[in-house]
Amino acid sequence: MTVHDPLLQPLRLKGLTLKNRVMSTAHAPAYVKDALPQERYQLYHEEKAKGGLALTMFGGSSTVAPESPSAFGQIDISDDRIVPVLQGFAERIHRHGCALMVQITHMGRRTRWDVADWLAPVAPSRVREFQHRSFPKELEKEELRRIVQAYAAGARRAKEGGLDGVELLSGGHLPDQFWSPATNQRTDEYGGSTRNRVRFSLEVLEAMREAVGPDFVVGIRMSGDDLWDESVSPEESLEIATIHAESGLLDYVNVIGSNVNTDIGLSRLIPTMGQRTAPFLQRARAIKQAIRIPVFHATRITDLETARHAIAEGWVDMVAMTRAHLADPYIVAKLERGEADRIRPCVGAGYCIDRIYVGGDALCVHNPATGREATIPHVIRPSEGPKRRVVVVGGGPAGLEAARVAALRGHHVTLFEATDRLGGQVNIAARLDRRREIIGIALWLAREVELAGVDVRTDTYAGPDDVLALAPDVVVIATGGTPDAGFLREGEDLVLSTWDVLGGQAKPTGDILVYDATGQHQGLSAAEHLAKQGQRVTLVTPDRMPGHELGATNSSRFMKELHGHGVRFVADERLMAVRRDGNGVVALTRNMYTDATGEHRADHVVVEHGTVPADELYHELKPGSLNHGLTDLDALAAARPQPALARLGDGYALFRVGDAVASRNIHAAIYDSLRLCTVF
Ligand SMILES: Cc1cc2nc3c(=O)[nH]c(=O)nc-3n(C[C@H](O)[C@H](O)[C@H](O)COP(=O)(O)O)c2cc1C
Repeated sequence: MTVHDPLLQPLRLKGLTLKNRVMSTAHAPAYVKDALPQERYQLYHEEKAKGGLALTMFGGSSTVAPESPSAFGQIDISDDRIVPVLQGFAERIHRHGCALMVQITHMGRRTRWDVADWLAPVAPSRVREFQHRSFPKELEKEELRRIVQAYAAGARRAKEGGLDGVELLSGGHLPDQFWSPATNQRTDEYGGSTRNRVRFSLEVLEAMREAVGPDFVVGIRMSGDDLWDESVSPEESLEIATIHAESGLLDYVNVIGSNVNTDIGLSRLIPTMGQRTAPFLQRARAIKQAIRIPVFHATRITDLETARHAIAEGWVDMVAMTRAHLADPYIVAKLERGEADRIRPCVGAGYCIDRIYVGGDALCVHNPATGREATIPHVIRPSEGPKRRVVVVGGGPAGLEAARVAALRGHHVTLFEATDRLGGQVNIAARLDRRREIIGIALWLAREVELAGVDVRTDTYAGPDDVLALAPDVVVIATGGTPDAGFLREGEDLVLSTWDVLGGQAKPTGDILVYDATGQHQGLSAAEHLAKQGQRVTLVTPDRMPGHELGATNSSRFMKELHGHGVRFVADERLMAVRRDGNGVVALTRNMYTDATGEHRADHVVVEHGTVPADELYHELKPGSLNHGLTDLDALAAARPQPALARLGDGYALFRVGDAVASRNIHAAIYDSLRLCTVF
């Protein structure tokens, strides 16, 4: 059946044959070392190449000039020192029959001035950029030649590096800043009419083409709909795409949508869960119909059915599943093996993209192997050592992952879960309708656990006797935690938890104060849930802004909903106590800076303060364990076998993972278990 699958048909692009229609578009995962794509970066892409995709594009926003410094961990392609690194990279990827291309860019105003060489960002006009906070210098005409040549030199390095092509990023970056009337207010020949505004990008492409010759693949990435009323209209985007496609300089057009002018614009360009899937596919199709060169497209196409439909109908020529490959680099291999139903889904949590804007590296919320290929395997192979009896207690993400990995290693695994459902806190998070896709994390794990042959016992509150009756060699405690209200000086019994609210056990009405001390999803989700039910919500946080720990795409989706539903915000106040007050309650707060006390009357107070480890069972089993429950942290950090496992044979080793250790997140929970269990 797969032989005729439209997704598996090759595409010729000049002298290059792409073996199928699935690709990953350029992104900047911030895996660079010394601003170059070294081992970590390459292994990440190699895993996808092993997984069967036809083209992996790396170096999202690789910068060509010093006044366009890296703002989120990009590659520096402005110097010839990159060429040998690219050559090694290309060889590594080509071994797997996969093509490799790089995206180059000049960020224009979309960067910071206080990094690298402290050079002022430049732009067609002096229009403020919100995300990187620059007030750019207006480009003088005399400077353009140098920038054009910098692009050409970047393209030449891509070719000398043995890559299969180079992509010019326009969307949101310097070429697009010339296209957009919102950022181009020039009165010279680079401003005004469409022809004038595309002059710069055409000059850049001419120079790039001259540098690489006629046979090398050159493409452009551009928005087909800026979703910004001050910017280029969809009709003009189509005209711009046509002008570029007909220039004879390009081999493909890679279509995106939205803009990167604001956080909310970015959240539409790289959509989180709860937004429409494939939102710009029809824009890509419209461009495809208007031009005669191939069209590439990505944006929240996460399932093979949509991807296949887009190819089969001829709407696009290459379909990218970019974040989907962060979640599972083996998408094509699984499709070819007839195991498409085992693909780990991209749930659109936005954890990857949001981390890079807070200085982190791009990590998948539920695949901790991504970006850690040097130490953590994506494919779990059976252990060559002795087969163990493993008991896992707790069926949340940490417990499910421990059970999955241990079973795939060939051990006999029993998983106890106290409730009737696997998934733990993921089930609660998914109760906010807008974030319901997060359930995909639990569903995938639960199915894999089943396929791996784990003996799953739900509705079983396991005590020490239940565990010991199985004569385990290894016990993994993944019992999670319970909502913490113990920090309050008084009134612990008067407050509700975010779990109560999201889980539906409590349905508070009226004036509701939601206190969010973590700045992650839980508090904001509860506030959104209540506000959407028509309650009057005030969100109080000790942080300097709500959602303090969330990055741009997630926080902007919350803020859109919270502002849209009239939620009020109080920052910098710590909740100290709650007292009964008539039919309601009064929340006593203290300002984080002045220590001034405050009083907020409400009908109910809902608290998010992380979880307290549910560690009773752990403490009961600890005295009898070989390792006294201690996890060797050096071994865990390096994903080496736990020393206690060498002493097995006479008793059990005991470990705890996830929130049973300390209140953290899904990624931390799964990573704990994966690196613990993949090495025995
Ligand atoms: C961590 C991360 C960094 C990204 N950086 C870039 C970039 O530098 N240049 C670019 O054109 N797109 C970038 N993107 C956008 C992706 O190429 C892609 O368009 C986006 O993820 C939507 O496609 P998807 O839904 O298939 O993931 C980035 C995406 C992610 C997740």
